Amino acid sequence: MNRRDLLARLLAGGGVPLLAPWAAQAQAPADWQAQFEASSAPWKSAFATVPADLPWTAASVRGRFPDAVSGTLYRIGPAGHDLGGERYHHWFDGDGMAHRFVIDGNTVHHQGRYVATAKRLAEVQAGRRLTEGFGTVFQGRDEPSSPDSMNAANISVLPVGGDLLALWEGGSATRLDPRTLETRGLKTWRADLAGAPFSAHPRVDADGTIWNFGAHPHAGVLLLYEIGPDGVLRRAEALPVSDMPMVHDFVATARHLVFLLPPLVYDAQRRSAGASVLDSYVWRPALGMRVLVVDKTDWKQQQVLLLPSGFLFHLGNAWDEETASGTVIHLDYARSADASSVLKDTREVMRARLVGAPGPVLTVVSLHLRTGKATQADLGVEAEFPRIHPQRAGLRHRHVLHATKTNGGLPLWSAVASTNVETGVSQSYRHGTQAIVEEHVWVPDGRGPGWVIGTHLDYAQKNTVLSCFAADALADGPVAQARLSYALPLGLHGVFVAA
Ligand SMILES: [Fe+2]
Repeated sequence: MNRRDLLARLLAGGGVPLLAPWAAQAQAPADWQAQFEASSAPWKSAFATVPADLPWTAASVRGRFPDAVSGTLYRIGPAGHDLGGERYHHWFDGDGMAHRFVIDGNTVHHQGRYVATAKRLAEVQAGRRLTEGFGTVFQGRDEPSSPDSMNAANISVLPVGGDLLALWEGGSATRLDPRTLETRGLKTWRADLAGAPFSAHPRVDADGTIWNFGAHPHAGVLLLYEIGPDGVLRRAEALPVSDMPMVHDFVATARHLVFLLPPLVYDAQRRSAGASVLDSYVWRPALGMRVLVVDKTDWKQQQVLLLPSGFLFHLGNAWDEETASGTVIHLDYARSADASSVLKDTREVMRARLVGAPGPVLTVVSLHLRTGKATQADLGVEAEFPRIHPQRAGLRHRHVLHATKTNGGLPLWSAVASTNVETGVSQSYRHGTQAIVEEHVWVPDGRGPGWVIGTHLDYAQKNTVLSCFAADALADGPVAQARLSYALPLGLHGVFVAA
């Protein structure tokens, strides 16, 4: 597909369909706001709205952060969940707030700043929501004129080419100033790709090459991107995909790009009839979990394998093994039996309710390319937000860092864990019974095992805490901690940038 074809296809299929007049939710957003405010759930600050930007503030530090973690942990997540007395119906709808935790030995400072998306600017000025979100349709409001008119810039961040990109997945990345978090505008990789989907989960090779995709459900394509370490686009093409599923993440080996395609399939008729983007997806387990393998050097070289039905948000890592019987790709991912996490759990928390469904489980997969056979094994460890040592990306790895659950009665995750995907042995650390753990990331330290840093919400103390662990002694607890004097709502993903 050449550039003109790509653009034509996106324009033909890329518009957001008109909403039917009955496009109402069962309950108005205002009802959800009342339910949230009336709830006595002790953890509900995890989904509260941050009223305004958070200025540069020193945290209270215990211990000393190792020299290797001197730098900045950037994080982002939904932080504007309600406006004008109306509350979104899904965690993933909220206006994105970018954070930077600047670490320097025994000092840590934090700053939080809303991404100045077109949507947020217009809605704050109006004092009310004007356009729908990913999982919430507002009755009688403006129809989105383009995917970027719904862009919440709230999922992840990527430092590239002098920008910190705030990533959504249904439209453009948003450029931020990494020193001030000030919004610079939308990122356009190439003129004909303006506004095209760009996922929140790019993969970065050891040489700095960035691989990414954009799922365009209405056009039925996966866009592939290859970007140089300098931030200049090298290639972009569209791959048609039948029964287009919800794809949030992928993984890159040294030679391949690998997509797990869960059977949560986009139904354009639902969208045209007024459903939210989320509610336009249909669970069709008979399709199984298709696995699309694409050759990195020649994107026309593709293979599809099949795993049993399941759902995922995230993968950890993948690598190629050359065996006597051909190439075998090994990968791991956080697998759920179905899509209730996105369809129910992350919706109900917005009115401070728990669904209590089992969490995803760390699962290892082998893809035998010569025979086309795919197998998987459940490691028996609940896991989300998997991350690996950044220098092992696409190479054989043993340890996956992840959040895990050690008790019920909490939304999301209660402990940080590290699991050996070859032995299944896992170690974890829990901050207490009233802490919700967010994504943690691995920080390299020369040839040693490195460090692990990440945040948790202490909802009893009403503050957010940044911790640093020795990567090979997670269960021993943090070697240093920085406690903010305020609580942040739960965020999604982050990245560490060394000083
Ligand atoms: Fe994600």
